[in-house]
Amino acid sequence: MARAEDTPQVEDKQSELDAGAGAGADAGKRVYKRVYKARAIGSSFDSSLGGDICSPNLRFKRGWEIDERDATDEVFFRNRRDILQKFSGGIGACVGLSALGLLTSACSEAKESSLDKAQQKWADLYPAQRNDTYKVSRELTEEKDALTYNNFYEFGSHKTISRAAQKMVLEPWTIAIDGLVEKPRKVDFDDLLKAMPLERRVLRHRCVEAWAMTVPWSGFPLKALVEYARPLKSARYISFETQMDEKNMPGLRQNYYPWPYREGVSIEEGTNELAFIATAAYGKPIAKQNGAPLRLLLPWKYGFKSIKSLVRISFVKKRPNTFWEVVAPKEYGFWANVNPKVPHARWSQAQERLLGKSGKVPTRIFNGYGEFVASLYSGMAEKERLYT
Ligand code: MTE
Repeated sequence: MARAEDTPQVEDKQSELDAGAGAGADAGKRVYKRVYKARAIGSSFDSSLGGDICSPNLRFKRGWEIDERDATDEVFFRNRRDILQKFSGGIGACVGLSALGLLTSACSEAKESSLDKAQQKWADLYPAQRNDTYKVSRELTEEKDALTYNNFYEFGSHKTISRAAQKMVLEPWTIAIDGLVEKPRKVDFDDLLKAMPLERRVLRHRCVEAWAMTVPWSGFPLKALVEYARPLKSARYISFETQMDEKNMPGLRQNYYPWPYREGVSIEEGTNELAFIATAAYGKPIAKQNGAPLRLLLPWKYGFKSIKSLVRISFVKKRPNTFWEVVAPKEYGFWANVNPKVPHARWSQAQERLLGKSGKVPTRIFNGYGEFVASLYSGMAEKERLYT
């Protein structure tokens, strides 16, 4: 685990909340150096956790070349559960097939997507009623791709964390709401779900690593959660934290990272109608590897802002120090709005690869959501690094 002085903690008291906020640049340099050092020495780096792309020391692989022809105008989604149900014994049958050397891709997907007891309890809520304000002109990403190609550093700094993530314990799940609110409180996920207006949205997601997916999510607008939290007028930013379960999250052993994973938005961003909390995907409770039981979705920003498995939401005065900004401030800024014209420090952002496809398509400013969010940044461009 990172040492306390390197890990800006968001505490209940406002003075402590604000104390961490200014230290970003220095803390960032220290963590950035430590990530490099740990990798260079190799001593504290657990190689079983694999290599990563988001972290500052890896070269990004380029080379996929096709255009938007690859994306169809028609949105469709093949419900893979139907296929899985044809294997009457479910996972049991898969084990049998595996023993015979006949493991199919449908079976391997079953292992990544079976619902645990808590998820089964929530399953009847989904899919929620569609809100089709947000149009997409792309084919949905196959569920198996969204389930098996993930970034969730708490389970390792590589893409194949889906099996490891099944160890997450989703019940009980409590979310702390604190900082500048009328009354700090802890709310059980079940109670929060009952209080929130559920809807379904099909949204694009664009990782800073230049891959993208299009997923049918269900959940609720972040705005509804902000209203539920009753922040004070003095709150300027919202800070989010991911669960830290050291027993079940082996990636936390990468102690050169500034755990917990933290993200933040301004109040204006968080109450914009596009900011969303997902609790389900592909018509069922969200898979553990995708951020169960609830995650943030900011589809106009690079994917690292869409923090998973939330346990704490704090309303603060100063801009929070976010996980990737602390690790590599020159590469991952606070605003991180998608922009094809502003390259990452080490690669172009002009195009993106669609998960499950072999080609690439042009990246769009604000990931195509400019009509909803561009006005949030008017007048800020000269002072702020809005697009990295
Ligand atoms: N949230 C946490 N807690 N830990 C992470 O490592 N990775 C981020 C984001 N949220 C991450 C996280 C990044 S870099 C991306 S691109 C998306 O999650 C990936 O989401 P997905 O695995 O559901 O596609």
